Amino acid sequence: MPTVKNSVKSDGSHHMSPRLVDAAQNEDQLASLANRFGTPFYLYDASVIEHQISALREVLPASELFFSFKSNPNPAVAQVIRENGCRADLTSLGEIEAALSAGFDLSFALYGGPGKSVEEFVSAINAGVRQFSVESENDLAALNKASSHLNVPVKALLRINPKQAPKAKLAMSGVASQFGFEEDYLRNEGRELMNRVGEMVNLVGVHIYWGTQIGDAEALLNCFSETVRIATEISALIGFPLEIINQGGGFPWPYSKAGEGPDLSAMKEELAALRADSSADWYFESGRYLTARSGTLVTQVMDIKESKDEKRFLILDTGIHHLGGMSGLGRIPRFSIDIEVPAAREENDEITVDVVGQLCTPLDCIGRRITIPNVKEGDLVTIPNTGAYGPSASVLGFLSRPTPAEIVHRDGKVIAATRIRSGHEPIS
Ligand SMILES: Cc1ncc(COP(=O)(O)O)c(C=O)c1O
Repeated sequence: MPTVKNSVKSDGSHHMSPRLVDAAQNEDQLASLANRFGTPFYLYDASVIEHQISALREVLPASELFFSFKSNPNPAVAQVIRENGCRADLTSLGEIEAALSAGFDLSFALYGGPGKSVEEFVSAINAGVRQFSVESENDLAALNKASSHLNVPVKALLRINPKQAPKAKLAMSGVASQFGFEEDYLRNEGRELMNRVGEMVNLVGVHIYWGTQIGDAEALLNCFSETVRIATEISALIGFPLEIINQGGGFPWPYSKAGEGPDLSAMKEELAALRADSSADWYFESGRYLTARSGTLVTQVMDIKESKDEKRFLILDTGIHHLGGMSGLGRIPRFSIDIEVPAAREENDEITVDVVGQLCTPLDCIGRRITIPNVKEGDLVTIPNTGAYGPSASVLGFLSRPTPAEIVHRDGKVIAATRIRSGHEPIS
């Protein structure tokens, strides 16, 4: 799209400009993809995913990097990530299926999340998973049962909910939550918990995930160093070997807004020093940072409508059923988008619009009072930084509209085109 300056180096390769626009994102190609697959569609750029993996690895010390499937379970996206040496961070049997179809070796995967049943553990172990985060006494009991029933030894990491909250957009630790054992509980009663670790379960580490979208390098570093402190203290107190510290992540990137995440290089040196003092293996988990930048939501202007001389609505063929998920339903804070328009419209007078979709509810609003050059019905407009928490994190079934196509490309060449299934399937 033309609002973005795409620079091509003398050797023909592309500079990593803030938007990383490449061949596939020129208007002709978008139009041809729209003809082929219909609109709206998500376009994911494999090279950008690879760039993000390298950028993150560049600031991380010796460790394993796990891809959090929850951010984008598209198997073709996951395959690119696997080919770049990441492991799988999984939280459901559906994500296991996606990881298997992306070719992941599940014996290196980590499986977590609250409320896991014995059956779920059994299925995960049968699929090849051997490492689990345990989040509560019941969770541990279910893992005990599943592993002894199958007679398969598994590793467990104790997920801890620390006392302090981080500086994150969505804190998942240090606040009352369904995630992990309370730090105080472990300090007071952790020794007894050790008696309840089953014979086939090897408790060998700690997992702390402080939150998503942690503000900057300093805040991240603070979380990671607190994790080392808590993991070391708790493992010594309770009496299990600290072989693995799962540092979680929370590496930030803009969501559906143009721009880049903060510079993380400021944490590199101190993090390396922290790592050097720790004899455990370190894991990091990331979804958003690896995938958000790679994705662009391409959508068609269906109508522009004025109401009561007060407001103008830009009606797109996408909305909260494809983007923004529960935020659209007002369950978590509202999000807003940036829109990029075709070159031919750039010099047009500006209009201020509420950006809405085709669902029959005023909740279907993905941007309020957004000013853009005037566009016309039929124009393709794009929403940047939408490679994470897009379709799979949205209310896809709401109002039974089709799910968006998802196209993965490299240098403009389509690698895979899929869409998440929708509709009702008979179960009896
Ligand atoms: C335990 C855990 N790990 C990893 C992630 C992935 O987070 P992000 O996509 O922000 O990297 C989440 C997200 O909620 C999470 O809860």
